Amino acid sequence: MLSNSRPLITVVGALSKQGRSVVRALLESQRYRVRALTRRVNTPGAQDLARQGAELMAVPLELGHKEDFIQAFKGSYGTFLMTPGITPEASHAETHETALGKQIADAAVEAGVEHLVFTSLENVDRITGGKKWVPHFTDKGRVENYIRTLPVTSSFIYMAFFYTNLLEYYQPRLKGDALVFPIYLPEDFRAPFVDPLTATGPAVLEIFDNKDKYAGHSLPVIGDIISPKELVETFSRVTGKKAVYSSAFTREELLHHFPSFSSMGALTDEVIGMAEYAVEYGYFRKDRDLLWSRRINPDSLTWEQFLRTTGWRGQALSFAL
Ligand SMILES: NC(=O)c1ccc[n+]([C@@H]2O[C@H](COP(=O)([O-])OP(=O)(O)OC[C@H]3O[C@@H](n4cnc5c(N)ncnc54)[C@H](OP(=O)(O)O)[C@@H]3O)[C@@H](O)[C@H]2O)c1
Repeated sequence: MLSNSRPLITVVGALSKQGRSVVRALLESQRYRVRALTRRVNTPGAQDLARQGAELMAVPLELGHKEDFIQAFKGSYGTFLMTPGITPEASHAETHETALGKQIADAAVEAGVEHLVFTSLENVDRITGGKKWVPHFTDKGRVENYIRTLPVTSSFIYMAFFYTNLLEYYQPRLKGDALVFPIYLPEDFRAPFVDPLTATGPAVLEIFDNKDKYAGHSLPVIGDIISPKELVETFSRVTGKKAVYSSAFTREELLHHFPSFSSMGALTDEVIGMAEYAVEYGYFRKDRDLLWSRRINPDSLTWEQFLRTTGWRGQALSFAL
């Protein structure tokens, strides 16, 4: 049993891929107690968090629940905050994700939390002077800017592209004797990738362990920097399966591979904007420390290690618990 004197960290989005990793790392360290927030406290995934030692609390990660969040944050020394993937709105004004991030950050401050870690991303609007539209990056950057104005110590992680996107959202399809990987990046473009299920927790634990050192820092979390060509070649080598890359970088290619995007105009614009942004400007701002996450967690999985550890062989998977 963990002693009550250990600092309490409240994890928002505790059943998300990032949140689960954070809960596990904090509890395994035996240095923190964890309160896990989710709408779905009765699901097997939530019960699994409880078995690990987390206290479950039902709070919807939605607007209009600030009071619930204030209550949920009461007694917490720290909090890990995430905003979920929200279908983009076609406006550049304050979006749902920005408003939600501000609401939970305000609630944390009002509840007296001392250290807030938000999973942010680059403000693409600012970096590109408005040329690329990637609201799920820019909105997080805006939330980060807002948090920096609040009277609380704050730190930020920036997750690379998730390996799990290829398993969950952009799966390969069998064509003849080969698995075709439709990838939204050009074949030879090296981009940062990471496993959110195992890499988020160690990064956040390191930050909570060293509040003053990381106060105000924005830290990329990366497992590998690898091109689609290398992703597919590695997959073939590890699984023994024939696999080929197919570009989903342009609008036509994306819609060809994923016809369902045609009914989601804003989401299509966003995915294309994100890929173009990454290629033309770099996924991370030039001054970010790309080696930090490997320094503090040398075990973070490369793509090859991810494939070997998970045993993934190209099938569609869901990580929703
Ligand atoms: N995919 C990538 O390559 C990538 C890279 C960097 C950053 N990101 C960012 O990572 C975030 C997603 O993280 P993840 O993949 O770890 O999350 P996830 O596994 O998709 O889980 C999302 C969580 O958010 C909550 N949620 C989802 N939709 C909701 C809704 N409509 N109302 C209330 N709660 C909702 C759910 O909470 P409940 O438990 O209550 O259901 C769920 O646990 C996004 O903001 C995305 O922009 C993604």
